Amino acid sequence: MKILVTGGAGFIGSNFIFYELANSEDDIVCLDKLTYAGNMKTLASVMDEPRFAFERGDIADVDFVESVFKKHRPDIVVNFAAESHVDRSIEQPDVFLKTNVLGTQNLLEACRRHGVTRFHQVSTDEVYGDLPLDRPDLFFTEETPLHTSSPYSASKAAADLLVQAYSRTYRLPVSISRCSNNYGPYHFPEKLIPLMISRALADEPLPVYGKGENVRDWLYVEDHCAAIDLVMRKGREGEVYNIGGHNERRNIDVVKTILRELGKPETLITYVTDRPGHDMRYAIDPTKIHRELGWLPKTGFDEGVSRTVKWYLDNKAWWQDIIAGDYKDYYERMYGGR
Ligand code: NAD
Ligand code: TYD
Repeated sequence: MKILVTGGAGFIGSNFIFYELANSEDDIVCLDKLTYAGNMKTLASVMDEPRFAFERGDIADVDFVESVFKKHRPDIVVNFAAESHVDRSIEQPDVFLKTNVLGTQNLLEACRRHGVTRFHQVSTDEVYGDLPLDRPDLFFTEETPLHTSSPYSASKAAADLLVQAYSRTYRLPVSISRCSNNYGPYHFPEKLIPLMISRALADEPLPVYGKGENVRDWLYVEDHCAAIDLVMRKGREGEVYNIGGHNERRNIDVVKTILRELGKPETLITYVTDRPGHDMRYAIDPTKIHRELGWLPKTGFDEGVSRTVKWYLDNKAWWQDIIAGDYKDYYERMYGGR
């Protein structure tokens, strides 16, 4: 089989490509625009692999997507390509609509024209909005109503609705997975965990939003890749599957765990002005994917953080190149005077 992976030069997509090349016999085509978040260095180790091909372009470009489908004739399409950072969506929402909504619709059309056997949409638990801190008994299930907070989550929810519309109206064989926060190798250093690791290693202040009490449900990226693999091959058509591992942590505790792991002092922590509309708590109920597909995460949070910290220590060139470039301006714009 041939799997088209969009957004495969980013964090989760690249980990998924490595997972598939190691655990399946399928051919993989990566389609990626190489925005600031896409990185060819990440894919360097697989570029000469005969089962792998790379195509640079935009999922929202009709002619480009058509040419890739004609050339490669994929059986399965997995859509990771997205603008993915909430803070950037607050600063500049329009590109989120173009890529996340129109880009997804363009891929759906191509899948319809070419009769793919499965279109899988990689979505997020953020489409459910947030949960209150004082109700630890509440979790997101697949039936929780969509109730978005940021331009990012609104654009992802709009994409999910389009995927469901193509299932119902055109009988396109689709599935959707909604995952909690991922962490692990090749995570772009604008997101909480890699940002804190890279700044702590440079002994620079660690910007914690608000009081650091917001809770996220952390999932090691390889466990997410295994779940997507199961859903795209064996998940029921037209269905949504939530993916999460009951690894809820307050942001401040995540930051303290990283500092302990690196042997750095807590005096580096700096509380900064909160993110507008900041979601309080995300927490996934993963019962459905466990019951139907037997999936369970393998990596506990402490082990996952140790492995991640070790990866960032062993791969300094990968992230130091990033933070030496345009990222500097981004950091100043986003955090300066906050
Ligand atoms: P990322 O920002 O690291 O990577 C996104 C990739 O998509 C990059 O390689 C980028 O170049 C590419 N891309 C962006 N716009 C494109 C376009 N118009 N055409 C083609 N390629 C384009 O993102 P990530 O963290 O790997 O997230 C991947 C997917 O998983 C996203 O859809 C995101 O919404 C979803 N998700 C992420 C998380 C998380 O914790 N990171 C959690 C749940 C869901
Ligand atoms: P992030 O990694 O941006 O993921 P998301 O907003 O999609 O959950 O942020 C995770 C949490 O960490 C979120 O509650 C915001 C917080 N945060 C900080 O406190 N400081 C930071 O510098 C960043 C990037 C995030």
